[in-house]
Amino acid sequence: MKVITSIQEMQQYMKSLKLEGKTIGFVPTMGYLHEGHLTLINKARSENDVLAVSIFVNPLQFGPNEDFDSYPRDFESDRKLAENNGVDVLFHPSTEEMYPTKMSLTAVVHSRINVLCGRQRNGHFDGVATVLVKLFNIVQPDRAYFGLKDAQQVAVVDGLITDFNFPITLVPVAIVREEDGLAKSSRNVNLTPQERLESTKLYESLQMAKREIEKGQRNPKVIEELIKKHITGHTSGVIDYVEMYRYPELDELSELKGRIIIALAVKFTKARLIDNITFDV
Ligand code: PAF
Repeated sequence: MKVITSIQEMQQYMKSLKLEGKTIGFVPTMGYLHEGHLTLINKARSENDVLAVSIFVNPLQFGPNEDFDSYPRDFESDRKLAENNGVDVLFHPSTEEMYPTKMSLTAVVHSRINVLCGRQRNGHFDGVATVLVKLFNIVQPDRAYFGLKDAQQVAVVDGLITDFNFPITLVPVAIVREEDGLAKSSRNVNLTPQERLESTKLYESLQMAKREIEKGQRNPKVIEELIKKHITGHTSGVIDYVEMYRYPELDELSELKGRIIIALAVKFTKARLIDNITFDV
């Protein structure tokens, strides 16, 4: 596995691989790799000649009160995990390499952001889009892999790739779940044993909603209420939101038709859990 820290070297190396006719899969990350990343890495590994992974904690996507400085970092462990999972090129630039001077131009995301978690994260997706424009230009991948756990990020990347005509196929990767349905997350360890038992109700409520839609229920408000009732009735969690939109546009649903997302966020004592399902009606 090659570890590259220089943008110029990365760009030249990726260009040479492309000239050899190799297909390039790319998994952008902020490091501290976990099972979710490894799922993306394994999928990308199986679909491309060359697998590139980036590790860069992007300051632009953190708000003033968010945890950029304390964001967990462990490059040695990431390097080993990447190597053991078949990564060919690990791109690990410094902040100074990526942002040597204040950017004179950055991306501004106009839609798909003022809903779900994005509503509380002003400017977050502008920072994500800006760093992805840079990373896509540096890595020049054929396919880019993103987890559907953050379905809003997938929607924003879909807009970015379409609007800016990147010759890249976006590959959304399904949420990885525990056997009892709970979406895997590093935050799950912060649940109390009782909350861990209750947490299965989140996915259960989403599946219940899907079944109701399949049976013919077409009123989004009725579906949202059903989910809320299931969660408040069976867990001690406090609902942050339960929302349904057209996907990936994240527009209001005037009618329940086409591809949709049902997403929720629930706060437990020391963990805020998110989950979603996307499907066609
Ligand atoms: O999902 C992430 O880890 C980040 O938002 C990403 C896509 C690597 C951009 O910094």
